[in-house]
This record gives sequence, C-alpha cells and structure tokens, in this order.
Amino acid sequence: MAAIGIFDSGYGGLTVFKSIRAFMPSYDYIYLGDNARAPYGNRSFDVVYEYTLECVHWFFEQGCPLVILACNTASAKALRTIQQQYLPTLEGNKRVLGVIRPTAEVIGSYTKTGHIGILGTKGTVSSQSYLMEIEKFFPKVQLFQMACPLLVPLIENKEYNSVAANYFVKKYIDELFQQSDKIDTILLACTHYPLLIEKIKKAAPHDVQVIAQGDIVAHSLQDYLQRHPEIETQISQYGNLDFYTTDDAHDFNEHATIFFGESITAKQLHL
Ligand code: DGL
Repeated sequence: MAAIGIFDSGYGGLTVFKSIRAFMPSYDYIYLGDNARAPYGNRSFDVVYEYTLECVHWFFEQGCPLVILACNTASAKALRTIQQQYLPTLEGNKRVLGVIRPTAEVIGSYTKTGHIGILGTKGTVSSQSYLMEIEKFFPKVQLFQMACPLLVPLIENKEYNSVAANYFVKKYIDELFQQSDKIDTILLACTHYPLLIEKIKKAAPHDVQVIAQGDIVAHSLQDYLQRHPEIETQISQYGNLDFYTTDDAHDFNEHATIFFGESITAKQLHL
C-alpha cells in the first residue's frame, strides 16, 4: 500500500484530512497525530523540525510517496529544511507538502478591504511565513497577525466548549481588531481552530468572513496530483484509511470524531 500520509501535531490535521478525503475519496490515506508531544506551537524551530522529521521518516517507512504536513506550525518551521536537506538524501520520488503555500496563493482573493487577519500559533506567527508567502501573490494586501497560544492547548484538552475558550477567543479577536478595524477576512492559520469557528465568528464583527483551510488545501492537492503523474501513479486507490496517534488510541478515537466528522479506530504508535 502506498498511501498519502497526513500529519499533524495532534487532532487539528483531521479538519484538513476531512476535506481531502471528501475531494478525493478513492486514494488510500494514513493519518498520524503526534498527540503525545502536542502542542508544537510554542516549541523552538529545532524541536519542531526534529519531531516533524521523525514522523515524516515514519511515513516513508510505511511506503507513503507523499506526505502532507496538515499543520501550520510544522509547515512554517520544518517544511523547508525537510524539502531542501532531507528529501535529496532519499532514493526514489518522495514529496512533502505543507498548508501555508496553497493558502497564501488564494487568500488575498477573499478580501474586499485588502485587510486580512491571521490567527495562528506563536510558532506560525513568529516565523512570518504567511507574511512572506502572501506578499508574493498579493503584495497590496495588508496582513495583521495574532498569536493565540492558548487555543491549541484548550482544544487538545477537550475544552473547546468551555467558558475559558469563549474568553480567550474574544480576547484574541479583540486584540486583532485593535490592529485594524478594516479587517474583513480572518484566516484560521492553524488546523485546530476550525473547532472554534462558531465562537470566532461570534466574537468578530458580523460582516467578517472566517476562512478555514481544509477545502483550500484539498483543492490544491487535487491540482498538484493532476500536474504530477510521477507521484500520483505511485498512490494506491482502495479507499483505505489508517489512523495512528503517538498517545492513547482510545482517547484519540473518542475525540477525533469531532474533528473528522465520522468515527475512527486509531492505533497507538511508539516512535
Ligand atoms: N494544528 C497545528 C497548526 O496548524 C497546531 C500546532 C500545535 O500543535 O500547536 O499549527
């Protein structure tokens, strides 16, 4: 089996996987959530790189020709080094893609005011990856970033419906709009945040659109596979889904459903 590998620090990548699967149900997929070491958002470049590389290496051992980092933090902090330093050392045609570039390619077309707010982890925001990538495609758009360091820990700890989640969403949105009251588009630049999308919409002015990345990334992947038959023809198409977590599988199964939209059975992986 040569499945497409989908990786996240925890549950968040399932929000992207859900869209990818809906767009392309015939392929085989393996999902890995590194829940035991999540969140990645506050960790250093070196540590995020080390953890991500270890997981990417595992996907390749499973025979995956293509791995999607369905995690903005890993895409911001590890992807480039993996592409430039690790992949060239491997035999065969292997690819690792992230979620920042496909989002940057289209996000500027959503705004009318030219002011976009970006919510992400501390790591994603401080890497400036979105500013650099969006600038290439939409140089006139003004970007306002807001690091939301407490949202992933709240979500990973299943506190997304809590009063604390309401409080922190409102605090981060208020601080974002203090930077510009012309923002008409908010990008959820963390794959965990779609779980809080209703709270985020409620905390923002009512005419502001809130964009999750799932469909954007899925559409871009579909396009990529059409343009790269040398990768596409390596991927098996039996519609199989396999789920792994580095933490307790029972716990993962219980909560993954909320992110993925259907019940799943994961296995625990000891890296
Ligand atoms: N889903 C990851 C992202 O998109 C969350 C990172 C974390 O583990 O803090 O950034």
